[in-house]
Amino acid sequence: MAKKIVVFTGAGVSADSGISTFRDSDGLWENYSIEEVCTAEAIVRDREKVINFYNMRRRDVLSKEPNAAHIAIAKLEKYFDTEVVTQNVDDLHERAGSTRITHLHGELTKLRSSANPDLIVPIEGWEQGLTETAPDGSLLRPHIVFFGEAVPMFENAAAIVYSADILIVVGTSLAVYPAASLVQYVRDSSVPIYVVDPAELNIRSRNPITHIRERAAVGMPQLAEQLIKSLK
Ligand code: APR
Repeated sequence: MAKKIVVFTGAGVSADSGISTFRDSDGLWENYSIEEVCTAEAIVRDREKVINFYNMRRRDVLSKEPNAAHIAIAKLEKYFDTEVVTQNVDDLHERAGSTRITHLHGELTKLRSSANPDLIVPIEGWEQGLTETAPDGSLLRPHIVFFGEAVPMFENAAAIVYSADILIVVGTSLAVYPAASLVQYVRDSSVPIYVVDPAELNIRSRNPITHIRERAAVGMPQLAEQLIKSLK
């Protein structure tokens, strides 16, 4: 039975594709206030600003490519029972070839009814029109979890982390809950945790932690090769 690897990613895994993170020096939240563009109130108060913010991010992602970290994570599927749990809303894990991905905070490539969160509509290209409606007649909105909103995929993600024989954490500041608490859902204190992040370690855990203090595009391929070699 192949070992189960769960890879938990944040914005840092896409940084080497040229996509801004949120809290690094040039991060998104340096230039936009969360309250203006990433809360349920914001889309009611200033619909145009919010729709334009996500249109800009969607257009940016469409112009970028998966990097060596996404590709190394996809490669793990050939050798291990692998699942990705991501906080990212880009589709770079999908485009790199990963096939089992849980998006905790939504997806830029999808819109949804503003009345029924389960009524999801794919978007062609990058631009959502301001007045586009969903099949239920309500205004469409980005399929993104705004601050203050529920994280419906959290329970699924926690069960996935619980099933891990190995947990890999790539490129997340662990600043946002409940996502950040996922590292506590490993089934016991023997599950090894690997962290790939150039910043200092910020995980508190009794589990054995290996910190690969590198950019994801460098550290993740190294880690993947090491894990694959350990199978021989
Ligand atoms: N390679 C790997 N990690 C990197 C790189 C890189 N090239 N560059 C930066 N990082 C790391 C940073 O050190 C930091 O730990 O990526 C992390 C980025 O942290 P954040 O910007 O806070 O991104 P993230 O943890 O994904 O944010 C969580 O916050 O705003 C919300 O919903 C949004 O999903 C997001 C959540």
